Amino acid sequence: MFSKTLFFLAGATQVAAEYASCCQALKNELPAQVFTTNETGYIELNTQRWSNTSILAPSCVFEPQSAEDVSKGVQTLAAGSCPFSIKSGGHNPIPGANNIDGGVSIVLGALNEIELDEETLVVHLGPGARWGQVYEKFSGEGNSTDPALLVPGGLCGGTGIGGVSTGGGESYLLSSHGWVVDNVVNYQVVLASGEIVDANQESNPDLFRALKGATNNFGIVTRVDVQAIDQPQIWGGAILAPYMPDTAYATLDALTNFTEIANTEPSNGAQVIVTYTATGQAIIALSIANVENVANATGLKPFTDIQPQIANTVGSRTLSSIVTELDTNQADGFRDTSATITFKNDPETLYAVHNASDQVYLKYNKTVDYLDFVLFYVPTSKIDGTHAALRGGNVLGLEDEEDDLMVAFITPRWLDEAQDAAMYQMAEEWVAATKAVTVEKGTDHPFLYQNFATPNQKPICGYGEENVNFLQAVSKKYDPEGVFQTLVPGGFKVSKAC
Ligand SMILES: Cc1cc2nc3c(=O)[nH]c(=O)nc-3n(C[C@H](O)[C@H](O)[C@H](O)COP(=O)(O)OP(=O)(O)OC[C@H]3O[C@@H](n4cnc5c(N)ncnc54)[C@H](O)[C@@H]3O)c2cc1C
Ligand SMILES: *[C@@H]1O[C@H](CO)[C@@H](O)[C@H](O)[C@H]1NC(C)=O
Ligand SMILES: *[C@@H]1O[C@H](CO)[C@@H](O)[C@H](O)[C@H]1NC(C)=O
Ligand SMILES: *[C@@H]1O[C@H](CO)[C@@H](O)[C@H](O)[C@H]1NC(C)=O
Ligand SMILES: *[C@@H]1O[C@H](CO)[C@@H](O)[C@H](O)[C@H]1NC(C)=O
Ligand SMILES: *[C@@H]1O[C@H](CO)[C@@H](O)[C@H](O)[C@H]1NC(C)=O
Ligand SMILES: *[C@@H]1O[C@H](CO)[C@@H](O)[C@H](O)[C@H]1NC(C)=O
Ligand SMILES: *[C@@H]1O[C@H](CO)[C@@H](O)[C@H](O)[C@H]1NC(C)=O
Repeated sequence: MFSKTLFFLAGATQVAAEYASCCQALKNELPAQVFTTNETGYIELNTQRWSNTSILAPSCVFEPQSAEDVSKGVQTLAAGSCPFSIKSGGHNPIPGANNIDGGVSIVLGALNEIELDEETLVVHLGPGARWGQVYEKFSGEGNSTDPALLVPGGLCGGTGIGGVSTGGGESYLLSSHGWVVDNVVNYQVVLASGEIVDANQESNPDLFRALKGATNNFGIVTRVDVQAIDQPQIWGGAILAPYMPDTAYATLDALTNFTEIANTEPSNGAQVIVTYTATGQAIIALSIANVENVANATGLKPFTDIQPQIANTVGSRTLSSIVTELDTNQADGFRDTSATITFKNDPETLYAVHNASDQVYLKYNKTVDYLDFVLFYVPTSKIDGTHAALRGGNVLGLEDEEDDLMVAFITPRWLDEAQDAAMYQMAEEWVAATKAVTVEKGTDHPFLYQNFATPNQKPICGYGEENVNFLQAVSKKYDPEGVFQTLVPGGFKVSKAC
């Protein structure tokens, strides 16, 4: 969407020539890594994405093999004023977030290292690796050749390191260890100048904090170092229940209680997923865990008590096996979008939001041919924000939060491109309807989890004025020419935060 605007504004003919010269300039530098539309490799590299809505038409795809290649590429693109996009795992479905029409699509899939420093238990992760691969690698026997560790990352195995570890990152570890960004000890970043720098608590600490929530605004992250946890197994899995009034109310009550209880039982984690399928099924998935491997921990009882259950896979397991199981419900190859809101934890608000969400779904289910509607609730307790301070803070704006919050988001999927416009309209209506309910109840909240926001939402603004000012100053300092503000149209820009 953003990239199309850019494309048309600039004038089609002039732009096509300009992009051809961008691709040619890159090819002169790094011939084996640049694929134009007529070359083998282009289609595969361009279509390796979770959602088909993110498959656009870049003039060429650039697949760097190292941070040095990224550095050369960024210098070349900046020098030629060439628009470009940045993709790691490619899980974001919003058109233009990780791809571009015209311009250069940078895909970081080859930067996929997963290495453990055995002494510190810090894992070095390439941005193009997937969280599922990380969990798999550390789900071993627990000896030096076959490590067993818990790594804070996304709950969907297909999501990439790059987007999750710079956008926030929610998981079962939210209450015990905070957001994924709070567990990052160092980012390696290629700046607009081409300089490759480390950002951590000692070196470039302002950039370090800014990256913990502001994704692609300052540079391209080429490695993320995350503190792993010496915890081979967790108690967790999924309980599936049929969706009906009783189970729905019990789930919403359990969610409200869980969110409050997590402040005193922080090793519990939960995510609730309600799915209405195009084939007429309606299922509630209670995805729960205790990350210290305690069975039937107190705070999880509201979930484990819900009856009837269709399936229950909860037990002492590796995160890898739990995530692999969850992934079966999040297939790629559909058309998808996402939208999110946040509100204060309150049972009446939760009922009303849920009902408002249902009404929007029911309206569109009548007109969209094939629609799977997927609604997530992520309990976001006060305690979650307190973990940021340990490593110098983040920019999410939740560190001094006084209320327990609920993050809700949707990832509806459909098949027919002709229905894209209707579905984007649906996402806007969903935001408007659910937000209105929270405003009416006085439980609305400005936070929006960026990695689930629609293009019309303003998640960075929701981080609060102080953080916005800070982010804009960091942008000016590390990217004085504004390369990542103007030449990288995808994502949410700190220069247009509010
Ligand atoms: C089904 C599903 C389940 C999900 N589950 C979770 C979950 O459990 N927890 C959670 O936190 N999130 C979850 N997400 C959201 C997820 O955080 C985002 O989709 C995230 O963007 C995925 O990261 P990625 O690397 O695949 O992103 P991409 O789509 O590759 O990129 C997303 C954005 O980040 C920017 N970016 C990516 N890599 C870099 C980099 N190296 N340097 C600078 N900028 C970069 C891109 O430019 C783009 O704007 C889920 C999403 C879906 C669709
Ligand atoms: C692709 O097109 C470019 C520009 O027209 C041309 O120079 C190049 O030889 C073509 N490559 C292949 C593999 O056909
Ligand atoms: C580690 O565990 C693996 C898998 O069980 C086993 O094959 C290997 O011999 C073990 N190595 C050591 C050093 O114990
Ligand atoms: C939630 O907590 C309230 C107040 O403690 C309690 O009355 C209610 O039974 C709990 N509900 C569930 C589902 O645990
Ligand atoms: C949604 O539409 C599908 C296809 O028409 C239908 O099978 C399903 O029952 C509908 N779902 C609801 C909850 O109305
Ligand atoms: C946990 O609770 C369930 C349901 O009450 C029960 O079947 C199971 O045996 C319990 N597990 C443990 C380890 O106590
Ligand atoms: C999604 O895109 C892939 C790659 O282009 C294609 O093979 C697949 O058929 C598409 N899926 C749908 C549902 O159109
Ligand atoms: C759900 O919302 C609809 C539409 O606003 C309203 O008519 C209905 O009464 C609500 N139902 C509940 C249970 O609140």
